Amino acid sequence: MWKGLINKYKDFLSVDKNQEIVTLSEGNTPLIRADWFSNKYNFELFLKFDGANPTGSFKDRGMTLAVTKALENNSKAIICASTGNTSASAAAYGARSGLKTLVIVPSSKIAKGKLSQALIYGANIIPIKGNFDKALEIVRDLTDKYSLTLVNSLNPFRIEGQKTAAFEVADQLENKTLDILALPVGNAGNITAYWKGFKEYNKKNFIDYLPRMYGFQAKGSAAMVKNKVIKKPETLATAIRIGNPVNREKAELAVNQSKGIFESVTDQEIKKAHYLLSSKEGVFVEPASATPVAGLIKLANIQPDRIKEKRIVAVLTGNGLKDQEFVLNNYELPKAVAGNLNSVEEILNL
Ligand code: F0G
Repeated sequence: MWKGLINKYKDFLSVDKNQEIVTLSEGNTPLIRADWFSNKYNFELFLKFDGANPTGSFKDRGMTLAVTKALENNSKAIICASTGNTSASAAAYGARSGLKTLVIVPSSKIAKGKLSQALIYGANIIPIKGNFDKALEIVRDLTDKYSLTLVNSLNPFRIEGQKTAAFEVADQLENKTLDILALPVGNAGNITAYWKGFKEYNKKNFIDYLPRMYGFQAKGSAAMVKNKVIKKPETLATAIRIGNPVNREKAELAVNQSKGIFESVTDQEIKKAHYLLSSKEGVFVEPASATPVAGLIKLANIQPDRIKEKRIVAVLTGNGLKDQEFVLNNYELPKAVAGNLNSVEEILNL
């Protein structure tokens, strides 16, 4: 029986053996072969669907460990800033552990599904008139001043938990080599975590390769690509609407050491990849999660040699159900017809 990722990968994580583990059986998410994309673009693409985690995003991987450690350290409350997913995950694990959960979020440009999660899990939500970067600044000031456990990816246990995704990818690929890992980059924690995970598995000789890390950002929030702080980050992919990534140095190291790249894609490219993932592969993700696929399509057009015939895993970080508004605002639902056979037949025009 699957008992969550701390239980599965305990040899790689440091948790006191008497410590009660706060888990929702996160991890063990599907790795799906993307047949349509693979045929079209002359590479072999797999989708690591981390939207299948208990709160619908990859954040659960880091949160199970961060909250377990908060208990181990006798914390009374956890706190985070968030574009949505971290707050949903913190609120769920906070609820399960009995710890008070405080979340500071931008008052707009946050998907309603994520806010509803934080609300129903019972977190104390403080919306601010400001973006994620401002929210994180406030959270850092608060944790300096009060005895609160920060559960953003500045907390090293978040990265430790998230590195297990690299172990899973390697395990799921069995004896196949991975050339490239592509993922969306916001605060730059996940790319840091994957690289750490692959290096640790490689060191233990569980794998004899190290994939290149390809980090993709939205053009209006491309702090890593442009190598500067973006004062007013913008993108329809609200999860990665971040101008000042806190894990910048570690993420740069991951890309440099792995001979990877940072690249940006437009909102239009993200929207197209989001649509193709659903309509061609049957995998519904939130917009930010389509960013790496948008990036791979861009590379296929401008630098095909980088990805030609390569085996690639794209990390799909969040579930599409979190941001239904995005779909309903961009695609039209057919109007209702009368509830009888004739009206339906007329519309169908069979
Ligand atoms: N994809 C999704 C769906 C996210 O929610 C995030 C980050 C990322 C990608 C980027 O990951 O920050 O490790 O580079 N969301 C954070 C939040 C900021 O508050 O939920 P990263």
